[in-house]
Amino acid sequence: MRYFVRFLIQVMQVINEIAVLQSVLTTFRAQGKTIGLVPTMGALHAGHASLVRRSVQENDITVVSVFLNPTQFNDKKDLEHYPRTLDADCELLDQCGADLVFAPSVSEIYPEPDTRHFSYPPTDSVMEGAFRPGHFNGVCQIVSKLFSYVQPDRAYFGEKDFQQIAVIRRMVEDLGFDLTIVPCPVIRQEDGLAMSSRNALLSPEERTLAANIYRVMKESFSLQTSVQATHDYVVDSINAISGLKVQYYNIVDGKSLADVDSWEDSDDIVGCITVFCGATPIRLIDHIRYK
Ligand code: PAF
Repeated sequence: MRYFVRFLIQVMQVINEIAVLQSVLTTFRAQGKTIGLVPTMGALHAGHASLVRRSVQENDITVVSVFLNPTQFNDKKDLEHYPRTLDADCELLDQCGADLVFAPSVSEIYPEPDTRHFSYPPTDSVMEGAFRPGHFNGVCQIVSKLFSYVQPDRAYFGEKDFQQIAVIRRMVEDLGFDLTIVPCPVIRQEDGLAMSSRNALLSPEERTLAANIYRVMKESFSLQTSVQATHDYVVDSINAISGLKVQYYNIVDGKSLADVDSWEDSDDIVGCITVFCGATPIRLIDHIRYK
């Protein structure tokens, strides 16, 4: 019924230009409507759909950005291989009830190179920050631009990119954006594999292997041993599976992302992992909350 009513009043609009986006949003804001933003890089899946549905429930207008941001890719091959599926993305977004899709070109967003430098250690210097230098700088560049264009009341991010949320929270504080960050839970497939756009790049065999990542982390949850032994169990068990190689497994405080040595160090403890899967290989990230 809701979709029928919505269809009568408003059809999802796809916008490519910043000026058009801003003018449409100015009208909505003048009508007192609240705005939710879901930033994405496209190749959308059920995880993204859950963010969009949540935004549609909590805001009058939902804007979804679909922009494969080059400045956050330190590996150009990774950018080249990233799946691009705008037509299918728009279909899914329409079904989810999004109002506006913002799908700009690279030159629209970066007519000049973005020379701004963001630095929020330790959140952006450990784990992904250490292994993908410049990655979070690129994320902050694009997310700060999107926040400025859209001026959302709420912005929705998947907890799958656990570290990204911690970095964006620091940026929001630093730049004084007046909005609420809404973290949304990881959506998993039946065998536990976290939904990710990169899963589309896995062969069926690699896809089966990848399910071991969360299985092993979940097993480690019930071990009840020291932090170091839990860490070693996860790394050794995953590395023992041919086709999987752990890049890092850090057991950290869920806010500062600093390593913890003991379960008593914090009441918010998360294990964050990155694993290379298969021959290409595809880099997969995941996390588990211990406390
Ligand atoms: O999480 C992502 O997909 C991207 O890092 C984001 C937040 C859309 C910025 O490009």
